[in-house]
Amino acid sequence: MVKLEQIRAAEAKLLLQTYERNAVLFVRGEGVHLIDEQGERYLDLLSGIGVNALGYAHPAIEEAIARQSRALIHTSNLFYHEGQAELALRLTERTGLDRVFFANTGTEAWEGALKLARAHAGLERSEGKQIGTKFLALEQSFHGRTFGSVSTTYKAKYREPFGPVVPGVEFVRFNDVADLRDKFSSEVCAILVESIQGEGGIRPLTQEFFAEARALASSTGALLIVDEIQAGMGRTGKWCGYQHYGILPDVTTLAKPLAGGVPLGAILCTEEAARAIHAGMHGTTFGGGPLACAVAIAVIDAIEKDNLLAHATETGDYFQQQLRALAARHEAIVDVRGKGLMVAAELDSAELAKLTVAEMLKRRIVINCTSDTVLRFLPPYIVKSEHIDTAIAALDEIFTEHAAAAGAAQAASQTSGGPTRG
Ligand SMILES: Cc1ncc(COP(=O)(O)O)c(C=O)c1O
Repeated sequence: MVKLEQIRAAEAKLLLQTYERNAVLFVRGEGVHLIDEQGERYLDLLSGIGVNALGYAHPAIEEAIARQSRALIHTSNLFYHEGQAELALRLTERTGLDRVFFANTGTEAWEGALKLARAHAGLERSEGKQIGTKFLALEQSFHGRTFGSVSTTYKAKYREPFGPVVPGVEFVRFNDVADLRDKFSSEVCAILVESIQGEGGIRPLTQEFFAEARALASSTGALLIVDEIQAGMGRTGKWCGYQHYGILPDVTTLAKPLAGGVPLGAILCTEEAARAIHAGMHGTTFGGGPLACAVAIAVIDAIEKDNLLAHATETGDYFQQQLRALAARHEAIVDVRGKGLMVAAELDSAELAKLTVAEMLKRRIVINCTSDTVLRFLPPYIVKSEHIDTAIAALDEIFTEHAAAAGAAQAASQTSGGPTRG
């Protein structure tokens, strides 16, 4: 505890105050558990916000890091190394797209995808097509914190302190086909969606909306860009969320779990979109380095060897089933939704959602809350049904205690301040 307090005091003095951290100091992890400086074990159902797909200290990741760090960590993109083409082959085979650009983070991949859309529209204009530079993004979207990404992110609190943001972005009401049709025109160079919104509250696109976005983009030569940074790389039981819909985008972005905890992002696109990029137009010093690529290859191979896509589907279905049973007992849960191991339970109040996250942490279970009222579960793909049972039992206890406390408070207010009967 002394160490935690020292670190808190030092961070308060030395760091930009961007985060409201929980007062826990994690020092290592094992499987689905994190371990704090006292040696206490926490069940992790958040995996570093959807990153640690294989949990902690996975032998495949340890082996890849050890092997690659002895051989080569960084060369820059001025030279070849063994990892990029091998990883790109695995990704193109699994996503249905043709070409890859490697970045470092989610926002950087998204930023590159936006640039690609503008460059592609420019190329089309030079070929005589009528196409503009506008982006259509969705309400409740989240695409990251750099300028282009934040400009296409819906929440005003993320954009407004930094204004003026990148111009030319219009937001469409989520899953509202009529609004999409109204706002789409030849001025649009790309439609931007998440197949399942993450920060926006684990909200899947409807088949109808997604299909309409695909059809409208194809009708003018605009690009359909799908952000799979949170939903992608197997979390939903398929490599990409869009594969549940049978829709192929022109561009997609991956990051979070791509290299199992080592930073790596990727833009994937069709041959058609890739025509817009030539040498020198875009780049990165670190992106797609030998270490990150070696780990990403090991992650994909482990997901396949251990059948984790099927496991994510089964365990995720079990999780939702258990949450629904809980919702039948607790009115506070107003909705349960998700796909695979991207799961949400929406509560009837922001206050209760905040309290639940804190109470779960006291019980040594890590989850978080997004979009004010939504409990978000993004466990490692190796999570087992017994871990889910532990979480459900804890939630049951918390909601029961909360309902009892609320009932007692109401009874007390009725006896003391309520109307008297005469
Ligand atoms: C859908 C989506 N896009 C983009 C990002 C930004 O990724 P990063 O935080 O790696 O920049 C996130 C992060 O939460 C995300 O969920």
